[in-house]
Amino acid sequence: MASRKKNYFQTMIESFDKIKKVEGELTLPGDKSISHRALMISAMAEGKSVIFNISNGEDVKSTGKCLSKLGVEITDTDDKVIVKGVGFKKFAAPTGELFAGNSGTTVRLLSGILSAQNFQSVITGDNSLSQRPMKRIIEPLKQMGGDISSNDFKLPLIIKPSINFKPINYKLPVASAQVKSAILFAGLHCEDETKVIETIPSRNHTEKMLNLKTENTEAGKIIYVSKTDYPQPSDFFVPSDISTSAYFIVLSLLTPNSSLLIKNVSLNESRLGFINHLRKMCAKIDFENVNKNTIEPYGDLIVKSSKLKNVPVSKKEIPNLIDEIPILSVAGLFAEGEFNLNNASELRYKESDRIKAVVYNLRRLNIDVEEKPDGFIFDDNLKVNTADFESFGDHRIAMSFTVLSMLMKDGGRVEGFNCVRISNPDFMEQIQKVGE
Ligand code: S3P
Repeated sequence: MASRKKNYFQTMIESFDKIKKVEGELTLPGDKSISHRALMISAMAEGKSVIFNISNGEDVKSTGKCLSKLGVEITDTDDKVIVKGVGFKKFAAPTGELFAGNSGTTVRLLSGILSAQNFQSVITGDNSLSQRPMKRIIEPLKQMGGDISSNDFKLPLIIKPSINFKPINYKLPVASAQVKSAILFAGLHCEDETKVIETIPSRNHTEKMLNLKTENTEAGKIIYVSKTDYPQPSDFFVPSDISTSAYFIVLSLLTPNSSLLIKNVSLNESRLGFINHLRKMCAKIDFENVNKNTIEPYGDLIVKSSKLKNVPVSKKEIPNLIDEIPILSVAGLFAEGEFNLNNASELRYKESDRIKAVVYNLRRLNIDVEEKPDGFIFDDNLKVNTADFESFGDHRIAMSFTVLSMLMKDGGRVEGFNCVRISNPDFMEQIQKVGE
């Protein structure tokens, strides 16, 4: 079992010893992106939907709480969540604010739905979320007739009833599944067709789960949506989160004599960028028991210790592995050759400025890291045996540098580790289960 040292201040700082071996089998929580969408789609559909293996992270709980305030009945049982959806424009006006916590997906996707309702709603969030850009959804939703005011394009959002909600043709200026999904959810409320044009592919869960018509053209992928696509109740199985698996994948790859089986992981093609890239870096990752006959494909991953070499990430790959870049940079530290990241300025607008957070933490190792507006570059070996890292309140930074701590000779410490609860409250127990 992986040893864990005593905390300094309650759970403010967690300390980790070097891990000797990773072995065994893990089942991880349901994918966060799919879980948010399963809840929102079920909430819109009139009648009973059932969601299996939903994420137990705080972000998805935030979506559930907002939907409950909008009159949706959600029952959480041991193995499933039952949602009694309201039907077309039948959400109830909320009493009080809708608090989205730390979750960008909750705010942005819900705004698409709320812009088309006949009541006013106010969406707020925690400090991190209150600093994140909302112009990217406000602009297209306003073009559709949405009446949204904000604090200089940041939270809180005040969404008033729209007088004339109408479809748009919209070419996404940024590769963002949240923006795309906000417009698609809004488009479900228009008689005529909305067209969203995407030039660089981003995760495609919304169009798949709503079974929308899509077309690949020279101008990019066009997604069509109208009221005829409004969802009916259904059952969803949420495969395990590939972004959560990423930390265990890297830990297993970089720990000698290790072999880990991760069950039922989402293998959606728009989320496979990380695994595909690691394979280019010579990572030994195999798939087993793949089930492609579902809306969201999944399968088991078998990961074995590997000797990695760094390979550049192309501009097109970035949206496909955007959430995995912090842990990819940890892998890059142990891989042969230079790690050079470009075209990733979107990282600055996540739960923290992830370029700044990664650069800060890598510099704790006394290595030379150059920060660029859209990435960073380093080509150096570990010069220290232990280090103190900061999470910046960002779950993906906390988990990435926990993994790094467990790879260092004398271990390491992560300040603000608790934020892992945003996507994976049981991260520590899972590490203890498979780490020796
Ligand atoms: C998400 C999309 C991505 C991703 C986020 C979840 C989603 O954000 O980083 O963690 O569920 O749609 P962007 O749409 O801002 O790229």
